[in-house]
Amino acid sequence: MELAGGAAIVTGAGGGIGGALAHRLAAEGLALVLSDLDADRLAATVASLPEGTDVTAVVGDVSDPAHHAELVTVAEDHGGLVLSVLNAAVYLPGQSWDMPIEQWQLQVDVNFWGVLHGVRAAVPAMAARGTGTVVAVSSGAGLVAMPMLAPYVATKHAVVGLMESLQHELARTNPGVRAAVVCPGNIATPLAMNSLDAANVVNEQLPDAAAGVVAGLRAGVAAGAGPMTVADAVVDAVREDRFWVLPQPEVAYGALDRVQRIVDGRPPVDLAG
Ligand SMILES: NC(=O)c1ccc[n+]([C@@H]2O[C@H](COP(=O)([O-])OP(=O)(O)OC[C@H]3O[C@@H](n4cnc5c(N)ncnc54)[C@H](O)[C@@H]3O)[C@@H](O)[C@H]2O)c1
Repeated sequence: MELAGGAAIVTGAGGGIGGALAHRLAAEGLALVLSDLDADRLAATVASLPEGTDVTAVVGDVSDPAHHAELVTVAEDHGGLVLSVLNAAVYLPGQSWDMPIEQWQLQVDVNFWGVLHGVRAAVPAMAARGTGTVVAVSSGAGLVAMPMLAPYVATKHAVVGLMESLQHELARTNPGVRAAVVCPGNIATPLAMNSLDAANVVNEQLPDAAAGVVAGLRAGVAAGAGPMTVADAVVDAVREDRFWVLPQPEVAYGALDRVQRIVDGRPPVDLAG
């Protein structure tokens, strides 16, 4: 799809990858409709954009379908919705069986329902115009699994499956509208701290078996690539109508190893091991 005007929605725009996307899409000349639950972080992204950027900030919760309806209405009033990047997510570690159920629920609400509601709001507006791209930011954790992150892994896998089904549906019914899914590896952002904030966790207490694994996973994120790596990959993929967006090749190698293990009947590898 050509990026030639119109408006782009970015959820989670107060965060690392969402902020980079806002800058990259502003440079493409798109009007921006930026959303985040955290008003201060969202305002900081808006303030950092070049003067003259057509930007509207909407504070809200992606797990609320009414928030997505509002984002689409604003985009339609600013040149028409051409791109929706459903990027907001939370990442809370722990063991599957004793993580507080509220933390499971939050991750399903934000990471899965937050994307599905965004898809359901954006596609009808794009279909009416016959063009547009809906992008969901999943993760490498949507293609491979690691321990102590089951809700994150499960919801990110669900996003991959949702977007792949959606792409097949669009190809049959509205070929001018496209879906894409982004599976980054480690990207240096404050995802871990922001997620604890979102879940109101003041004093994180992880079981002994989880603590070391989680420290290693977080160290990996801190040493990750810059968020603009993802924003650049998203823009390239949208331009080239590509479904899979894997900004770092190691994610594809991990996915390939998993499929080879399925074919061979070998057990899955513990990537935190
Ligand atoms: N950082 C990484 O290593 C990494 C790797 C793979 C995928 N991702 C994905 O990239 C996306 C962006 O994450 P990031 O790393 O930039 O983290 P981030 O925490 O910097 O950004 C996420 C933003 O989402 C917002 N948010 C959280 N809950 C929300 C809600 N209910 N409604 C609206 N906004 C909400 C947060 O306030 C935050 O500003 C996420 O989908 C994440 O899963 C990140």
